[in-house]
Amino acid sequence: MNNKRIYLAPMVGRTDQYYRSFVRILSKNIYLYTEMITCDSFLHTDRKNYTVKEEEKNLTIQLAGSDPKKYGLCASIIEEKGYNEINLNIGCPSSKVVKGEFGACLMRDPDKVADCVYEIKKSCSLPISIKTRLGLGYEENLDLLFNLIDKTKDSGCSKYIIHARNAILNGLSPKKNRKIPLLRYADVSVIKNAYPDLKFYLNGGVDDILEIRKNINKFDGLMIGRKIYDNPMFLNEIEEKIYGNEGVLSRKSILDKYLKYALSPENKDTSNYLLLRHLFSLYYNTSSSKKWKKFIHDIIQSDKNIELITNFEESTYD
Ligand SMILES: Cc1cc2nc3c(=O)[nH]c(=O)nc-3n(C[C@H](O)[C@H](O)[C@H](O)COP(=O)(O)O)c2cc1C
Repeated sequence: MNNKRIYLAPMVGRTDQYYRSFVRILSKNIYLYTEMITCDSFLHTDRKNYTVKEEEKNLTIQLAGSDPKKYGLCASIIEEKGYNEINLNIGCPSSKVVKGEFGACLMRDPDKVADCVYEIKKSCSLPISIKTRLGLGYEENLDLLFNLIDKTKDSGCSKYIIHARNAILNGLSPKKNRKIPLLRYADVSVIKNAYPDLKFYLNGGVDDILEIRKNINKFDGLMIGRKIYDNPMFLNEIEEKIYGNEGVLSRKSILDKYLKYALSPENKDTSNYLLLRHLFSLYYNTSSSKKWKKFIHDIIQSDKNIELITNFEESTYD
């Protein structure tokens, strides 16, 4: 399993630095992603915030945009910040993103994407990957994807993360675009088999250990989003059953470690909301779940001392 990777999927509003630090406590092996960042916001916000911290190592930054020169500018800065890889978002179906002419709609303009890859390649030495879909609309042919890969591999992209369904650009919200249309893992295999020199990672709907076992060896690895966010303890299962790690942590020890991180000087000005909002599902599917959510909610609402998180009493029948 050593050379097979499992990535945490990039998720806007979720995979921020606090969530990544939380995930790293649960899993030493998973590869991390930032949220999608547009080239414009990367270039215009305080770049200190983008330096990779020790606990976030093995982190890919996901950029979005359609101006090759701006990708190049971002890449020259990113190189110094400690990232593993630069990923281009060519899969986001949101109407806002389509209006900005980036994300999934760029599947129709592979030459532009190839130019973006080329500018990144020219500006830094990090590996470049693309996260994309099988196609656009309801038609199940792979022409757009083949074309995208053919153009971008020649300008320096060597890895592709394929969300195994098409993107529907008109009329479906991003949320519905993660359920509709149906997943087509077999088509990702068709693509993988067509390019033996490139790396391919399967994404979309991977939500149990059986599914990981069934698919991980068919690809170079997998990417998982919602299942991990909805049930962080799934990472314990991945560590134990996929990576053979016997030292997985109890929820109490996870909270002890997270508190240590939350109290570190770098977080002294961070609100309880930002520090705690990703912890709500820690007791997912246990009899303590409701009690835990209320407990965390109270600490956030009343801005109580964050050290209280380790005082939580689990229900006795968990
Ligand atoms: C709340 C949320 C935000 C997301 N934001 C991004 C994003 O910033 N960039 C991206 O490429 N995909 C984004 N996605 C899509 C996921 O990366 C992933 O492709 C999708 O959820 C399918 O994987 P899953 O079934 O394992 O969740 C987002 C998904 C969710 C649920």
